[in-house]
Amino acid sequence: MYNFKSLVSGVGNLNKTKKYYDDWSEKYDETLKLWNYQAPKKSIKFLKETTNFKPKNILDLACGTGLFGAELKKAYPKSHIYGSDISKKSLKISSEKKIYKKLQIKNFEQLHNYKIKFDLISLIGSMTYCKNFDKLFVNVNKNIKQKGFALFTHRIDLWQQQDFLSILKKHRKSLKIIKISRPLKYLPLNKDFKNKIKIKIVLLQKY
Ligand SMILES: C[S@@+](CC[C@H](N)C(=O)[O-])C[C@H]1O[C@@H](n2cnc3c(N)ncnc32)[C@H](O)[C@@H]1O
Repeated sequence: MYNFKSLVSGVGNLNKTKKYYDDWSEKYDETLKLWNYQAPKKSIKFLKETTNFKPKNILDLACGTGLFGAELKKAYPKSHIYGSDISKKSLKISSEKKIYKKLQIKNFEQLHNYKIKFDLISLIGSMTYCKNFDKLFVNVNKNIKQKGFALFTHRIDLWQQQDFLSILKKHRKSLKIIKISRPLKYLPLNKDFKNKIKIKIVLLQKY
């Protein structure tokens, strides 16, 4: 049985995280609905308010069961959405939703090899699990189009601990910081997160 406490404190290494999300996959959508998970809708709203572009090809890293993919599809019905995640069972669920053109099991810190370059690369609700930001940024940079956008969310408690702004600044020669949101509610009906742990949304653009 999964321990939701570890959502706050961290699940552990890659294998533990994979198992955690595999075990949770069938109940994940239901649980997140109960907690009123807000990151997907708020990220789309933020993106639409900040840009007026219509992405043709989108890569949704750590796509999980497709909750953000579903919002992308609503916002950009003509786009081709690709997804990757380490949890095979979550990917099975997202594939059943028929949102994604292609899905693959892959760690977002490993280089993804696509023939196309993406107009938008997203990482929603998952930055918590990043162990090596340089590797993630190399992957994003390699797969994003010139003038393409990267859209991330990150928990504010971790943002502060990691000095995430300096990490973003370190990479701004290739990915310019376009906008960072104010703190936003993340899981308002989860007792450990509620008003205590909020997120920021970040939009970057490739030079
Ligand atoms: C909280 S869920 C978010 C899923 C989805 N983006 C959403 O908004 O519902 C976190 C996801 O990150 C995935 N994940 C964790 N570490 C990862 C890694 N290193 N590479 C790829 N996916 C990872 C998990 O398997 C899980 O599906």
